[in-house]
Amino acid sequence: MAAGAAAARRDPEPGPAGEKRILCVGLVCLDIVSVVEAYPAEDSDTRCVSQRWQRGGNASNSCTVLALLGAPCAFMGSLAPGHAADFVLADLRRYGVDVGHAVWQPGGCLPASVVIASASRGTRTILHAHGNLPDVTAHDFERVDLSQYKWIHWEARNAAEQAAMMRRVERHNRARPPAERVRTSVEVEKPREELLPLMGLGHVVFVSKDVARHFGYQSAPEALWGLRGRVQQGATLICAWAEEGADAVGPDGELVHSDAFPPETLVDTLGAGDTFNAAVIFALSAGRSLQDALTFGCQVAGRKCGIQGFDGII
Ligand code: FRU
Repeated sequence: MAAGAAAARRDPEPGPAGEKRILCVGLVCLDIVSVVEAYPAEDSDTRCVSQRWQRGGNASNSCTVLALLGAPCAFMGSLAPGHAADFVLADLRRYGVDVGHAVWQPGGCLPASVVIASASRGTRTILHAHGNLPDVTAHDFERVDLSQYKWIHWEARNAAEQAAMMRRVERHNRARPPAERVRTSVEVEKPREELLPLMGLGHVVFVSKDVARHFGYQSAPEALWGLRGRVQQGATLICAWAEEGADAVGPDGELVHSDAFPPETLVDTLGAGDTFNAAVIFALSAGRSLQDALTFGCQVAGRKCGIQGFDGII
């Protein structure tokens, strides 16, 4: 298919009952998940408990969860023709995720991860191949009809382009009454220097434990305290910390915390962070309080860790 072909399509009308959508911008990839009893030794030959293909990528996983929660949602990210793209596209459609803003790139391969999921410890070790696939650009994003969306979430990747996309939304919002504005969020998961300025742009900013540790913080509250100066005035900063739950600082400086809701048996943690983000966005976009949204995020992420994949989190 020609580059940009999918993006040529116009945005559909809002979802059922005129409900506006949530758009997630970022990665879709193929995850080849091998579930093993215990993490293998180097140069060993191990029989897996099971093996599956699963659609992955942070933004794509968050779309899965939003769709399962019942939110009309759309995915925007890059694709490269081939079996892997056919698989992930069919799977996005199966969940009812709108893919009209997926962009076919002329070069590169669809990224793929080999994931070793340890059943005994619940860890997931990811080997990710980037596929030299360019990310969607601010130019691609110009085709997005912002009036169709109530919330747009970015997984921090090509920061300069994404900053331009976020500024476009800011300009759009300035000319609109509050009820018509698009809320924005950004997830800074990887501690890469060029991604950090994005923390200064979203209404809601998710920072990972990895990023917090990169700055030398040993807990979520410590990270919030140290990083709050990097987010814009009135923004919410959220940091999840695995079994310690999540903490957030809201627009008025209020601090909230939720404990984790660990499953009885830890089964699969692949995409748990993406699940948390989606559930928090879902709750906030429905007008729930920051405390409620954080607790809901931890509950849904906890349920995800108790099952393989995402089906059954609700
Ligand atoms: C999980 C995930 C996987 C993917 C990897 C990419 O958060 O999105 O689905 O393989 O991270 O870094």
